Amino acid sequence: MTEAVTRYHVRPAGPLGGTVRAAGMTKNAGCKQLAAALLCPGVSTVRNLDPVADLDVMCELLRAIGARVVWETDDALSVDATGPLVPEAPYELVSRMRASINVLGPLLARHGRARVAMPGGDNIGSRNLDLHARGLQAMGVELDVVHGFIDAHVDALCGARIVLDFPSVGATETLMTAAVMAKGETVIDNAAREPEISDLAAFLGEMGAQVHGAGSHTITIEGVDELTPVDHAVIGDRIEGGTYLFAAVIAGGDVTVEGITVEQLGVAVDKLVDLGARVEPTLDGVRIVMDGRPRAIDVQTLPFPGFATDFMPFAVAALAVADGTGIVTENVFDNRLAFTAELNRMGAHVHTEGRHAVVRGTGRLSGAPVQALDVRAGAALVLAGLVAEGETVVHDARHIDRGYPDLAGKLVALGGDVTRTAG
Ligand code: UD1
Repeated sequence: MTEAVTRYHVRPAGPLGGTVRAAGMTKNAGCKQLAAALLCPGVSTVRNLDPVADLDVMCELLRAIGARVVWETDDALSVDATGPLVPEAPYELVSRMRASINVLGPLLARHGRARVAMPGGDNIGSRNLDLHARGLQAMGVELDVVHGFIDAHVDALCGARIVLDFPSVGATETLMTAAVMAKGETVIDNAAREPEISDLAAFLGEMGAQVHGAGSHTITIEGVDELTPVDHAVIGDRIEGGTYLFAAVIAGGDVTVEGITVEQLGVAVDKLVDLGARVEPTLDGVRIVMDGRPRAIDVQTLPFPGFATDFMPFAVAALAVADGTGIVTENVFDNRLAFTAELNRMGAHVHTEGRHAVVRGTGRLSGAPVQALDVRAGAALVLAGLVAEGETVVHDARHIDRGYPDLAGKLVALGGDVTRTAG
């Protein structure tokens, strides 16, 4: 299959204004819930999905496993996981999307067996699976990595007390889905607290699972004998929605993003305010008003409710045009700062040292051809292009398409000058 070459062309067009609606959280929540539909026979439906590239990969993966996946409406997919299922996730799909690992927990719970290729995903540093593995082993799973595949099997999953070294989103999801039908109680301590974990817990709860404490440090799961199919709508995408809030900080203006809440943004709201914006909740979203250049601030990424690592590239782009110098520290992933070299091609002054970036603001970025290294880094370059003199062309935009259903369209709706070309 030859992939279309996609690019974003961006020109400055003044302050932004208006209202956009955040997409459903398809990449980071919907795809995982589709995988969790494998937990029980029958037809489960996931709603409020948007057509991002990662969703296509998850559909292909579920079909390869033996589920029937059908669009029910424009935004709802049904997964018939009656089977028979082949508990194997092939390399060509897993290597395209890290969330493929989310079939591991459900397949072990349903079949006691799973063979999943080691995942790929964004180019943002080493992304281990040791926390997934150790947690599963505590539940009785025998697990080997052979020829690039995780080969896992278990006679009967047993509840266990698991303390995660780090509140990993992926490991928390794997262990939650493995535990829902395990014998006895599972306690996940130092669990991830991201809103998408709470949404997965809601999905599992609607299936009949007994999951308590999602959204806190400690999640307790009482195993049940069987689960039943569900019909669930995913939450709004706080990361996609947050992208437009940062766009307003960079370009100025008055923007409302519907479909997300201030609470889902965590500390990012305080940082938007520190950057100089006024942020307020609306009936169904978040409004941001920004006038003038951003102020320089320091930011460090942390698990939720800390400043999301997915917002970090937007913070760097905002600081690149800020009045003063800010320091950004990336604590969640190694090697997520590589994209700053692309921003520097646009005249930014970012100096990186390991996990730290010193960003000296400039009043003048200049449009340039640049490359998207991952989904958020790519979006950050588009945001920087909103205030860069001349044209910015963001190449390799397939990375952006993994998580944004319509980045160009929504920025245009806000008054930006952005086009996406493919082919
Ligand atoms: C998910 C999101 C990603 C987001 C991240 C943090 C999806 C598809 N991706 O990624 O957009 O940036 O959460 O909010 O939902 N780690 C280990 N061992 C493990 C698991 C993780 O060392 O077993 C490390 C990773 O290498 C990384 C850190 O923990 O440095 C965070 O990873 P994790 O929270 O698991 O993120 P993902 O689920 O991969």
